[in-house]
Amino acid sequence: MSSDSRSPLVVTIDGPAASGKSSTSQMVAEALGMRHLDSGMIYRTVTAARLRIGGPPASWTEESVLAAASRATVAPGAPGATSFEPRLDGAECEAEIRGEAVTATVSLVAKMPRVRIWVNALVRATAATHEIVVDGRDMGTAVFPDARLKVWLVASPAERARRRVLQRTGREPTAAEVALETSELEARDLKDRQQTQPATDAVWIDTTGITQAEQVRRIVELATAKR
Ligand code: CDP
Repeated sequence: MSSDSRSPLVVTIDGPAASGKSSTSQMVAEALGMRHLDSGMIYRTVTAARLRIGGPPASWTEESVLAAASRATVAPGAPGATSFEPRLDGAECEAEIRGEAVTATVSLVAKMPRVRIWVNALVRATAATHEIVVDGRDMGTAVFPDARLKVWLVASPAERARRRVLQRTGREPTAAEVALETSELEARDLKDRQQTQPATDAVWIDTTGITQAEQVRRIVELATAKR
């Protein structure tokens, strides 16, 4: 069920790893004059905070992750910016949260039920003060079941892998790079499968064969109709 037109507009964009959620959400938010919040960024920042404390990830308790989470915040970008930025101990941490150590351990942290509750509360508090386009895995199900527009973004594993390597290196990847990235993405999808489910009322968009501009155009059109 969708909420009525008097509630603040929330657009959720969910989907598996590297399906283009964040970059698409950012462009949709800019086109609509809304803010973009990346919930995966928050899980990554909490993970980076816990990594800073040290110790083997297999020994991390939920309590120790929650204690570290209090060091993670999101801040609105510079005036005119449409995004929220991650902060760790109040400082910028973008490179750290996109690094390999965080990517390898974030799913472990994201599985912890009380960590999910903590992240969801932060996401909801942010949506209470801004109209947002929010992306993740469960934004349209667990966090905003009444969102006015829900999008489920998919693409083939090989295409998702190609885009992710391209984003990281700035050049067209080799077949071997795509194969390696595909297996890493599929392994993370498997770890995240419990919280990665489409809402029954989500609009599915398969981006494998369409340009980013086209997928943005379609979502902006759908959101405009809901405003
Ligand atoms: O961009 P990418 O799809 O690679 O991942 P992300 O959106 O940055 O999310 C990083 C990790 O956070 C995921 O692999 C999940 O483990 C977790 N996550 C989650 O559990 N629920 C969300 N709503 C968003 C992210």
